Amino acid sequence: MSLSVIVLAAGQGTRMKSELPKVLHKISGLPMIHYTIKTAQSISDDVTVVLFHQADRIEKEITENFDNVKFKLQDHENYPGTGGAVMNIEPKHERVLVLNGDMPLVTPDSLKPLLEKEGDIVMSVFDLDDPSGYGRVVVEDGEVQAIVEEKDCTEDQKRIKTVNAGVYIFKKEVLDRYLPLLGNDNAQSEYYLTDIIKMAREEKRHILPVWVEEEAFKGVNSRYDLAHAEEMMQARIKERWMRSGVTMHLPSTIYIDSRAEFIGECTLDNGVTIHGESLIVNSHIKSHSVIEDAEIKNSSCGPMARIRPGSLLEDTHIGNFVEVKKSRLKGVKAGHLSYLGDAHIEEGTNIGAGTITCNYDGINKYETKIGKNVFIGSDTQLIAPVTIEDNVMIAAGTTVTDDVKEGALAISRTPQKIVERFFHRFFKKAQK
Ligand code: UD1
Ligand code: MG
Repeated sequence: MSLSVIVLAAGQGTRMKSELPKVLHKISGLPMIHYTIKTAQSISDDVTVVLFHQADRIEKEITENFDNVKFKLQDHENYPGTGGAVMNIEPKHERVLVLNGDMPLVTPDSLKPLLEKEGDIVMSVFDLDDPSGYGRVVVEDGEVQAIVEEKDCTEDQKRIKTVNAGVYIFKKEVLDRYLPLLGNDNAQSEYYLTDIIKMAREEKRHILPVWVEEEAFKGVNSRYDLAHAEEMMQARIKERWMRSGVTMHLPSTIYIDSRAEFIGECTLDNGVTIHGESLIVNSHIKSHSVIEDAEIKNSSCGPMARIRPGSLLEDTHIGNFVEVKKSRLKGVKAGHLSYLGDAHIEEGTNIGAGTITCNYDGINKYETKIGKNVFIGSDTQLIAPVTIEDNVMIAAGTTVTDDVKEGALAISRTPQKIVERFFHRFFKKAQK
């Protein structure tokens, strides 16, 4: 891979109106810089990220998730702007691809047309009916003559529909020659990377425009853009999984994290949400269920179930309004209205409606262990830590405070009392 990549991520991202740096805003579960770095590393062994605003926070996020990324702190005070960002970097290779950190939808495939072209500068452009916000690109005789930032445009230039998508490949020697010549005499008093184009053109360099897919090169500058980018990312994620054999009913109502995985025959009904690194194998997730960082194998969940982080369900049926947290269930049926937290439940066990594992005493969390073929009656509270051995029956309404041995029945109930004719006596009196 004879190409270096520079990722620009030093800007403040003012238009996001956020404390969180722009590139750490999430799309489909991951900070958007993840997508850019993944793409960069798939085509280059020399990736440098330029940082300034909240540099430490962004660097930490990247180093925790990627190896071999270099960082450069921009001299933002003296050299603000995208041109300042690229100064004083020593790329390893003769060709240098510059990517904006706020373009999470760029994929290796979408970069191919740029990578295949040879020129002193190759740059990405697309045509927009509404080009506002983008630098306008002046193309004549098949070559780029200049890029004019919107804030510096004349009225005529504002009408140009061809815009700078923000991705370029420079010959290293072109950067070396023109970066030191950049000035900041413009509306924002910044050093624009785009000004290199004009200077290079004056010296008869070849600057080739490549029309790219608008969808992949959309920059995220506001939360409106962020939401739009997420919609596009979701469409991609869902298309990929449907093509690999996942059935989705009304996919536009389904949300899937970019880290989720599916294996075998899986069905997702409308309104399903899959967060985090969930793994779903041969399972049916019914309407409006929420799965969070959980593993679900040969099971069905929902409608309206919530399976929270650290849960593993195998050969299990979970019904409506059941919440499962950090629990392992194998061969279990929990059909209705339950909370199962920090529990291990084994094969053949049936959890009655309204069963609650009372796993928290206000200070610590405790485990509930339930063996094989246990029948737990409705409205049971299991006060953890507690162990229920195999082949046990718990009567409906029981509060289980002590361990229950194999084969036993546990029952705790206030004995029922019958008062004959109570209703008639009570209401006659009340009516007088
Ligand atoms: C830039 C281009 C514009 C193009 C648009 C495409 C320039 C001068 N303008 O404008 O022609 O149409 O992208 O999306 O290049 N950054 C730094 N250091 C800085 C300033 C910015 O690293 O001092 C980074 C930002 O973090 C961001 C990227 O550069 O990732 C682009 O900056 P942004 O402010 O979004 O530029 P645009 O105004 O969108
Ligand atoms: Mg931008």
